Amino acid sequence: MTPRPHISIDQTIIPDDARRLGQLKSIAATTLSCDEATRVRRLRVSGAADAFIVGRLLARQRLAEVIGCSPADVVISIDRFGRPSVEGTPLSFNLSHSGRHVVLAVASIPVGIDCQLPDPDLEAGFEETFATQREQWDISSPESIYTLWTRKEAILKCLGTGFHTDPRSIELGDRSAVAVAHPDCSTWTISVRSLQWSHEGRLAVAWRRLPGTPQPMITRTVIDLCNDCHQVSNVERLHAQY
Ligand SMILES: CC(C)(COP(=O)(O)OP(=O)(O)OC[C@H]1O[C@@H](n2cnc3c(N)ncnc32)[C@H](O)[C@@H]1OP(=O)(O)O)[C@@H](O)C(=O)NCCC(=O)NCCS
Repeated sequence: MTPRPHISIDQTIIPDDARRLGQLKSIAATTLSCDEATRVRRLRVSGAADAFIVGRLLARQRLAEVIGCSPADVVISIDRFGRPSVEGTPLSFNLSHSGRHVVLAVASIPVGIDCQLPDPDLEAGFEETFATQREQWDISSPESIYTLWTRKEAILKCLGTGFHTDPRSIELGDRSAVAVAHPDCSTWTISVRSLQWSHEGRLAVAWRRLPGTPQPMITRTVIDLCNDCHQVSNVERLHAQY
């Protein structure tokens, strides 16, 4: 029997406390790879380096737990589209940041995750560049924009090509993705789950569902990095409902 796939989702907030952030940076100094440290030095946009550090620490911690090694020993490589993957295991992982929020998905199957806080600056031109004609008809509120946005971006990240793939080449129904143009998608069925993450923000996770495979078990953990210990403040188990 095909084993049930699993997806674990971690969510956290980047601390705004300088002392706590300093502690995380010292952990990063002995945990991140040389390539990651170089990337941190190059990130000039305010908050971008902090988001990268927290995302990679979170990913290394979770991957190390699953693989059974130390976080510094997890080998992460980047492909030509920028998608990070972990070497030496069939695990897939994906990260997303928005504002001070960071989300991570680690899975036994290809996975993509996206989160987005509302930002009016990002909404201009969204419909024309991101949504198909039919999806544009369905957009009725700012909430529907962000739900569509995160679901579609999670799929693009699951595919691994990101915005190298035209977002309008994929059309979403209510619960599932229907590919209308992208050649890879024609053989894929992709299920997407939108999660209410905060009152305004949206979180979506997308995975490739192969015919005959069981639905994945999804676990979701909220991690409080603002405390000195990496305290897990809430764990909920979500069963996919497709
Ligand atoms: C992947 C992409 C959709 C993410 O967009 P975003 O909303 O800015 O960023 P998010 O916070 O949601 O996600 C960023 C994370 O996605 C992951 N990622 C990067 N490229 C990826 C790809 N091709 N596929 C899947 N995941 C990818 C990384 O883990 C990254 O976080 P990290 O750099 O801290 O490790 C976008 O950056 C992209 O399409 N990149 C590839 C193509 C490109 O560079 N185009 C230029 C603009 S057209």
